[in-house]
Amino acid sequence: MSSIAIPALTKDLKRVLIDADTIARRVNELAIKINTDYAGINDKLIIVGVLKGSFIFLADLCRKLDISHEVDFISLSSYGNSDQSTGNVRMIMDTRENLDGKHVLIIEDILDSGYTLDYLCRNFTSRNVASLKTAVLLDKPDRRKVDVTLDYIGFEIPDVWVVGYGLDYAERYRTLPYIAEMIPVIK
Ligand code: PRP
Repeated sequence: MSSIAIPALTKDLKRVLIDADTIARRVNELAIKINTDYAGINDKLIIVGVLKGSFIFLADLCRKLDISHEVDFISLSSYGNSDQSTGNVRMIMDTRENLDGKHVLIIEDILDSGYTLDYLCRNFTSRNVASLKTAVLLDKPDRRKVDVTLDYIGFEIPDVWVVGYGLDYAERYRTLPYIAEMIPVIK
């Protein structure tokens, strides 16, 4: 954890929770593990990023993989601009690839209530995938409402609102190079 100063324009932010170097090191460690775990499969691995939040984690992780893989995306939403999941997960855009019989690795930025990943795992399982694993950059176990199996976890974090490295608040801060804790928004 770091105490890097936050530029003045990001005044809603309290502190850097995970700095860019720490993220890069952890992404590299996860990639090494994924390379090892999938080394034996004959078919290409399909990496499915959950939009929008996963796009930066996915981009960095994929570029460290030396196994044969293909990138696809799915778009789900259960939050809108709120800070509480409705539990009512909607699919906005499905994968382009037919996943039937494929080895699939889901990439998520954050696991909070678990509703999104639970929905997706059940949805993909019903498509008869050859195998299904999950990789999540941030895990907030204190907020869990449903059990979800995680195969690769970047960091376990406390129950604070985080932005950056793909995660937003009302579509802001996604492109910060670090994970920052936001000052709680008073409504
Ligand atoms: C966020 C995040 C996960 C989900 C996790 O998505 O990217 O997909 O919430 O929360 P859960 O475990 O409580 O379901 P969001 O709906 O905010 O959309 P976004 O990725 O486009 O920002």
